[in-house]
Amino acid sequence: MKNKTFLWVLFALCALGVGFYPAIYYLVDMHGNGLWASKSPELLSSAVWHTAFYMHITFGGIAMLTGWTQFSQKLRNRYLSAHRLIGKIYVASVMLSSIAGFYIAMFASGGITCVLGFSGLALSWLFTDIMAYTSIIKRRFKDHENWMIRNYALTFAAVTLRIYLPLSQIAHIEFITAYRVISWICWVPNLLIAEMIISKRAQIPVQTALVQAD
Ligand code: HEM
Repeated sequence: MKNKTFLWVLFALCALGVGFYPAIYYLVDMHGNGLWASKSPELLSSAVWHTAFYMHITFGGIAMLTGWTQFSQKLRNRYLSAHRLIGKIYVASVMLSSIAGFYIAMFASGGITCVLGFSGLALSWLFTDIMAYTSIIKRRFKDHENWMIRNYALTFAAVTLRIYLPLSQIAHIEFITAYRVISWICWVPNLLIAEMIISKRAQIPVQTALVQAD
């Protein structure tokens, strides 16, 4: 398998694996399990928090599952109307999930460090989503591509978080200490990588840059 194909398969598998993960909250009673084990009974019985939580994980899952397909130039060229439809679903999903994510971030386990880490992620996620959408409305294609690269790098925080958390447990780092650090490192390095990809693509001619997206 070529390097590029391998990376695409890995990219898709991560997106699909984490994208379907929220389904567990619909299939299993999570009271006393995982993240919910660290929540107070008052918070768990709050209808507003509950609604926001399910809104966040459902639309976050849809964003994760749909977003990765949009980066293939081949798919864009062949099925432009599908790209537009999936794009609208993606933009709306990120909007709903980030607003709900911002709300549940206020109650994040791990205190102020996690509150700031996750709310910073939620605001950056919403901002890049709006920028990506408004740039395509104005038909600024390059800007649209660049904002979407940044935005999906932030969506991918859901993947990086779920890689770092088990690694921190293998390294025997206390859960809450790890969670505080991860609430930041799950997204800030992703954004830096997005900037590196954007500046690398800016150095190559347009035709080649498009082929490289496949
Ligand atoms: C990129 C922006 C995102 C932000 C700002 C964000 C924010 C949050 C916050 C604040 C929590 C609760 C943490 C706590 O209470 O300690 C959470 C949990 C969760 N989020 Fe997100 N999230 C994002 C992306 C996603 C995506 C794309 C998905 C879809 C897969 C997702 C799925 C979940 C799930 C399933 C949980 C429950 C925790 C668990 O069981 O692991 N999130 N998120």
